[in-house]
Amino acid sequence: MFEVESDIRKAKTLLSEFYTDERFFEMSREKIFERAWHFIGQSNEVESLKPTTLLPGFVDEPVLLSRVDGDVVCLSNVCTHRGKILVEERCKANLIRCGYHGRRFSLDGRFLSMPEFEGVENFPSPADDLKQLPLAEWRGFLFASIDPFAAFDDVVANMPDIGFESDELKLTSTRKYEVDAHWALYCENYLEGFHIPYVHRSLNEIVDYGSYTTETIRYASLQTGFGDDGSIAAKYLFIFPNLMFNFYPWGVSVNVVRPIRPSKSVVEFLTYVADESLIEKSAGADLHGVEMEDEAVVESVQKGIRSRFYLHGRYSPTREQGTHHFHRLIAEFMQ
Ligand code: FES
Ligand SMILES: [Fe+2]
Repeated sequence: MFEVESDIRKAKTLLSEFYTDERFFEMSREKIFERAWHFIGQSNEVESLKPTTLLPGFVDEPVLLSRVDGDVVCLSNVCTHRGKILVEERCKANLIRCGYHGRRFSLDGRFLSMPEFEGVENFPSPADDLKQLPLAEWRGFLFASIDPFAAFDDVVANMPDIGFESDELKLTSTRKYEVDAHWALYCENYLEGFHIPYVHRSLNEIVDYGSYTTETIRYASLQTGFGDDGSIAAKYLFIFPNLMFNFYPWGVSVNVVRPIRPSKSVVEFLTYVADESLIEKSAGADLHGVEMEDEAVVESVQKGIRSRFYLHGRYSPTREQGTHHFHRLIAEFMQ
């Protein structure tokens, strides 16, 4: 259905139907997002039990992060009896007890006990334990998946050096933006610096457009913006399909793109700061202003791709490698 040539000079961009047709939106949930790694915060935020949801509004899977002997595990947060959500709020505990009929589980998800179940056959069985989900930790950040398309280590393998240590990062703000555009339009705009001189005048003064680079690896890509003095102004890491890690001299801004409808997405901005004194004057100083500029173009594209006269475009071989790589991954997953 979707095909994007590997040779960027011959390739055409994804057919516009991918963004407009409800069926493909549903297909992307199953074929892409249910197999993706989802960002679920920092490991040092998990003291004992912390409930969360994988990609709210789209994947919507309730999970429970639990600390067991120092390690974090990710469990299904749904009681194996009649399906109540087990833990509703972050808390400290030494076992998990369902608030509906009292079923108990150990912190690693094993069934422990259940009142009034004497005489029930083949009980308990492994199906009564809480399912444990694949979980990965990378630079203090946690990722979980229902059925990952690749091991997380393989997703970040062969990553060019980011030169960033995340030991002392603190979450200082979270923000949500509603964007009237398809999730992939938002991502593909992020994946090229081509538009910087046209769309982001203030950012263009900080980042030297001529030396901007893009490196692609199997499921990720890394863009680097340099300042006028040749120093690194920012590194922009994209992890397929919807995660953005922006490394600045002062810390990391993480963006999670959440599909809502084919023409609507929510983008979460989580700001993790290591050194507050460096924020001003850096490429990440005016994130809000840059975001408004990006949203305006992406929303304009959303209107444009519905046109009867637009089916697909072509790529700049020097400026759109990241977008080409992203479209190729979408085409691969949508088979
Ligand atoms: S739903 Fe949990 S004990 Fe009944
Ligand atoms: Fe932009």
